[in-house]
Amino acid sequence: MFAGHLPVLLQETLRLLSPAPGEVFLDGTAGAGGHAAEIARRIGPRGILVCADADPGMLSVAAERLQGLPAVRLVHADYADLPRLREAAGGLPFHGMLLDLGISSLQLDDPSRGFSFREDGPLDMRRDPGEPVPTARDILRKAREKDLADLFYRFGEERFSRRIARAVVSERQRGPIDRTLQLADLVKRTIPRKAWPRDIHPATRVFQALRIAVNRELESLSEFLEGFAPHLAKDGRVAIISFHSLEDRLVKTAFRAQSTGEHAVLTVMTRKPVVPGEDEIRENPRARSAKLRAARRREQEESACNE
Ligand SMILES: C[S@@+](CC[C@H](N)C(=O)[O-])C[C@H]1O[C@@H](n2cnc3c(N)ncnc32)[C@H](O)[C@@H]1O
Repeated sequence: MFAGHLPVLLQETLRLLSPAPGEVFLDGTAGAGGHAAEIARRIGPRGILVCADADPGMLSVAAERLQGLPAVRLVHADYADLPRLREAAGGLPFHGMLLDLGISSLQLDDPSRGFSFREDGPLDMRRDPGEPVPTARDILRKAREKDLADLFYRFGEERFSRRIARAVVSERQRGPIDRTLQLADLVKRTIPRKAWPRDIHPATRVFQALRIAVNRELESLSEFLEGFAPHLAKDGRVAIISFHSLEDRLVKTAFRAQSTGEHAVLTVMTRKPVVPGEDEIRENPRARSAKLRAARRREQEESACNE
């Protein structure tokens, strides 16, 4: 699967999670099953690995890759649905939990999903195409100018959010904005050429913002962060790889809050986030903004002794 050595971030994720034979694990974002395969091999046939993905298409990809690994149990679910995932593990607490957030390159590179500003497709962006939630097109059609500006600013950290929102509203008066390249061109035309970001496409932030809004990504992450600790076994580990500062901030804050004070249940394992190596970024430019943080559930006895 990974020829030769493993990429730094994957190596570090495995080191921090340290899956051991017979352990119970959760991969809440199975994707193409790359991380899951490495974990499943390490926990072996006596272990349990619950692999969840909200996109049924990705779950089929993972199923194919993980064939023949007896520990694996695939579940079509949001990773925030912890009671359901625990049930899939036979009610056992997890020795390790992994989230590798965002979307996979398979989703991004499929124009029919609407995530890509490089190829034309419908402005959909739903992670689960069967879910009856508003698409990116619906948001662009209905949201008020101010709400659009807030969305681009908050979820995309887009400096030209107001200008872009204004341009969307004036374009939609002429006709629907329903194709990815139509939106990408509009953003390109709206941001002054000299202000185009150097290493990313000018529409990257707007697309990111819409994707986060459509899939309620920060809500799922916040829900997981509030609820995961009781589902960890004593000494259980959690590792989260995030791809933008909004996610990383949520993870950092939640780990800090749960590792300090008299009711602390976690010990933070990464004082600073782990980032990918230069070679890894060269090979996979999408990894450039990845940040990995991990924490460990404290032994109850230990926290009681420390107080
Ligand atoms: C970056 S990919 C994971 C890649 C995976 N670690 C691998 O090695 O192939 C992220 C995956 O998480 C899924 N996902 C994102 N948010 C989710 C959520 N709230 N619940 C379940 N799956 C989610 C996406 O559908 C996507 O398949």
